[in-house]
Amino acid sequence: MKASKGRFAGSLHPEALAFSSSLAVDRRLFEEDIDGSLAHVAMLARQSVISAAEAGKIRKALEDIRQEIRRGRLPALQRPGFTGRFAGDDIHMAIEARLIEKVGKAGGRLHTARSRNDQIALDERLYIRTAGGMLIERIRDLQRALLAQAVRNRSVIMPGYTHLQHAQPLLLAHHLLAHVAMLDRDRGRAMDCLRRSSRSPLGAGALAGTSFPIDRKFVARRLGFPGIVENSIDAVSDRDALVEFVAACAVTMMHLSRLGEELVLWSSHEWGFVEIGDAFATGSSIMPQKKNPDIAELVRGKTGRVYGDLVALLTVLKGLPLAYNRDMQEDKEPLFDAADTTLASLRVTSLLVSSLEFHPDRFEEELRSDFSTATDFADYLVRKGLPFRSAHAAVGGLVRRCVESGRSFGDLSLKDLKKCSPLFTSDAVELLKPRRGIALKRSSGSTSPREVALALRRWEKRLAGPAAR
Ligand code: ARG
Repeated sequence: MKASKGRFAGSLHPEALAFSSSLAVDRRLFEEDIDGSLAHVAMLARQSVISAAEAGKIRKALEDIRQEIRRGRLPALQRPGFTGRFAGDDIHMAIEARLIEKVGKAGGRLHTARSRNDQIALDERLYIRTAGGMLIERIRDLQRALLAQAVRNRSVIMPGYTHLQHAQPLLLAHHLLAHVAMLDRDRGRAMDCLRRSSRSPLGAGALAGTSFPIDRKFVARRLGFPGIVENSIDAVSDRDALVEFVAACAVTMMHLSRLGEELVLWSSHEWGFVEIGDAFATGSSIMPQKKNPDIAELVRGKTGRVYGDLVALLTVLKGLPLAYNRDMQEDKEPLFDAADTTLASLRVTSLLVSSLEFHPDRFEEELRSDFSTATDFADYLVRKGLPFRSAHAAVGGLVRRCVESGRSFGDLSLKDLKKCSPLFTSDAVELLKPRRGIALKRSSGSTSPREVALALRRWEKRLAGPAAR
């Protein structure tokens, strides 16, 4: 069939086509694009906008094209589209050109009551639904990997840090569960984003709607969306669903980078708190002794990329007048990159976490030589009647004298404690053991063994069910 040139007498300059074509990027939306077209064509036939016979032909050809593309045969770029110019413009044009090639003129009816503007908006929401589902799954997998380590190491103690200085003794399980809790909110953000984005923009047309008797809700239902994006201008103008999705990725990566950073520190010679499994560490090309935490470092590094994706997307949208503008075509690379990077980072971090061997002896060694039980001593004096500020000063003085004389809390006797305050009696000696301070905690959500055991049980229950709560 010879395509008519329509509005244009000449063809697009090859460099202009290369510059403006998004096919290399949006070709990965072909499944979504065909799913959307199938729903659209079913609706057109049901509303008698096109005949059942034409719809059948189009449906069959679309399924064939799906198989062709799955087998790696994307419609040729140089093939003329319906205007004779734009077949290589994007995935929508490429599929439509192939459709017309296969079924002839009737293929040209598919685009009745539709524009690429509502078409791409739909494809992207379908993509987000799939990628978002995977995001939710993978976050949960990582939560489970962390939880398994917490259960396995439930009685291990460690120095807790603030300002990267020893602060108070903790149960390692409590620390790991902090990461689990942060990831749970990431999962919530992903679900929240899906709740809002799962609406069909199709039927908005270019921006004004259409004069054909279409049924937008039918299309939405057919695609498994609970409803439509009501306002037709909104439906083709906004990309906030993408922004929310990429933002959810960015926050998740921020959390992964903090976990990654801890693993980099903890696996170093100075810390020696944890051994990364050989399968997730690398050697050096020159230094034979090296075992490097590259995977954790890369996750930390890739976080910057995903932040970049979010800023790129927000910046593309900033100041755009309604409705569609071609600038918006630039939304896909950051979307795909954020999804790919975050999903891969989550997967490898789960495997990395499962490979970890913690070193309880090293944690305890650190706790023997520090002053991280100081708060427990101050609390002791408070229970004996001293105002907290006075207790703080008394114990602070004790620490200073220890530092000056090169001793740690482990070297102190009851006599030394009594010199600090006459309120100390023999039971205070117990507080020199970091486990004692941990056991004394009683506030909800604290590091006390009782609270941590409850939390472990709660997380086990919560993470046992299906990924979406
Ligand atoms: N490839 C385009 C994009 O991703 C599809 C929409 C094109 N619409 C248009 N009016 N040129 O934004």
